[in-house]
Amino acid sequence: MEDLYRENILDHFRNPRNFGTLEHPDFSHEEHNPLCGDKLRIDLQVDDDRVTAVRFSGKGCAISQASASMLTEMVEGKTLEEVKSIDKQDILDALGIPISYVRIKCALLGLKTLKAGVYGVQTWVEEDNEQDIGW
Ligand code: FES
Repeated sequence: MEDLYRENILDHFRNPRNFGTLEHPDFSHEEHNPLCGDKLRIDLQVDDDRVTAVRFSGKGCAISQASASMLTEMVEGKTLEEVKSIDKQDILDALGIPISYVRIKCALLGLKTLKAGVYGVQTWVEEDNEQDIGW
């Protein structure tokens, strides 16, 4: 079973869904993983409080790119309230394999970027603040 999840991760890494940028995003935010310096940007277009388009760009390891790709599939068509309710466990469930403590920041880089963008937070890296927005 884990093999299927691993294959899915590799597929998202090699063929990332919604990769790129939007010309006129309503929300755009970039974050980095403080452990490696890799960066990720997420753009959202929102119409009537619902996500009508999403793109991600940047570079990072397979886990960070795959989880960002999966995340974009999760948010498409959702309301902003629904987007805000996506949490760490949703990402870990989508990845479906055990993620070591060291790789957790890779796995959650997309979510961190998305949440910072949607909440209008410029940037935050402190664990305490992460707690506030549902990590
Ligand atoms: Fe940089 Fe994973 S090693 S995001």
